[in-house]
Amino acid sequence: MPTLRDAAGTLTLGGVSLVDVARVAETPSYVYDLDAMAAEARELREAFGSQRHRVCFAVKANSAGAVLRALAGQGCGADVVSGAELVLARACGVPSDAIVFSGVAKLGREIDFAIAEGVTIQVESVEEIGRIAERASDLGARARISIRINPAIDSAALATHANIATGHDEAKFGVLVADLPAALDAASRSDRVSLVGLSAHIGSQLTDTAAYVDAARALFAIAREVRQAHPLSFVDTGGGFGIDYGAGCGARPADFVRAVCRELAHQGLGDVALYVEPGRSLVATHGVLLTRVIQRKVSGDQRWLMIDAGMNDLLRPALYQARHRVVPVETSGAPCATVRVVGPVCESSDDFGAHDLPEGGFSLAAVLDAGAYGYTMASRYNGRALPAEVFISGGRIASITAREDWSAWAGDRARAGA
Ligand SMILES: Cc1ncc(COP(=O)(O)O)c(C=O)c1O
Repeated sequence: MPTLRDAAGTLTLGGVSLVDVARVAETPSYVYDLDAMAAEARELREAFGSQRHRVCFAVKANSAGAVLRALAGQGCGADVVSGAELVLARACGVPSDAIVFSGVAKLGREIDFAIAEGVTIQVESVEEIGRIAERASDLGARARISIRINPAIDSAALATHANIATGHDEAKFGVLVADLPAALDAASRSDRVSLVGLSAHIGSQLTDTAAYVDAARALFAIAREVRQAHPLSFVDTGGGFGIDYGAGCGARPADFVRAVCRELAHQGLGDVALYVEPGRSLVATHGVLLTRVIQRKVSGDQRWLMIDAGMNDLLRPALYQARHRVVPVETSGAPCATVRVVGPVCESSDDFGAHDLPEGGFSLAAVLDAGAYGYTMASRYNGRALPAEVFISGGRIASITAREDWSAWAGDRARAGA
């Protein structure tokens, strides 16, 4: 269990009371259990058995250095989507040959940097191959590329929110199968690119393995053809393993891995390394957003609980209508009532939904499963400071990155245009 209650009934994470965390870190603060994240990575790697593999953590899910170092310590690589994420992954000890660089619109200087670092660039269009070849030529170098295939999986089959479905034929991502001959031709024509892999990523928060395995099967069938002309060193089935946000999740990350390992062997590709790019599933359940109750309000039949965390701190509910459980940190004997939990931001969508919570007796609340796509999506909207981050390891607080000072924001904005 990611969060547990201690003998006094107080919520803990990684063996540390969240009341103690709130004593030393200003709220709102993200609190992460680094050891549990490392264990999650270990468990996933074990699921590959003897299959050669690489777990490339999707840095967009959580970009904190301590998290990246903990995962790199388990042998994880990185999936990055910007030059900045690439610099970060390298700074946190991820080797270049364990990094894949995805994204539909990479800047020229990002491509140059990736080529210089020797990371594999996941190309998302036929056109991009030409750009990369030209830049590699200017640098007198050879770029390692993989082609991200868009397997055109029906979005309805993905059973996830439309905004995080990426492997259907109307998505901007990847190369459609119909365009693959042109992409292979572009790769073959240039001696400045080496095609070393094929990848797919069909979407996020997948709660069963069926669509993922369908996409993998299609990808592997293509790989069997392509490897006759290009010695592929890996196939990459992407991330997207779902977690249980409270509504259940039928499949564990290891189930996805075991299923695609079976399919890989079945298609006679067991000698090729299998890459996956999980973000959420390695970190989400091992992080909470710790927040303080600001006030309660009753208007008509509606009860509101106003907290000091808002949509600028955790965007997922506003962006994807995502639901996170909200629980009191301290136990309370007060009777429960349905309250709408909202933040301080001046937007109606700054709303964490309706929750059954005690009518009083607690001053701290935790938004659960907030370790992925939380801090990385945070903004300073409404002049709000970025939240603190607290890192727990070995049953104690290992480090704290303090919440920003809001007066810094005011000063920055005052200087804008001056
Ligand atoms: C290309 C790519 N790989 C991996 C991921 C990680 O997905 P998840 O966090 O669902 O595992 C994403 C998420 O958007 C992605 O776009």
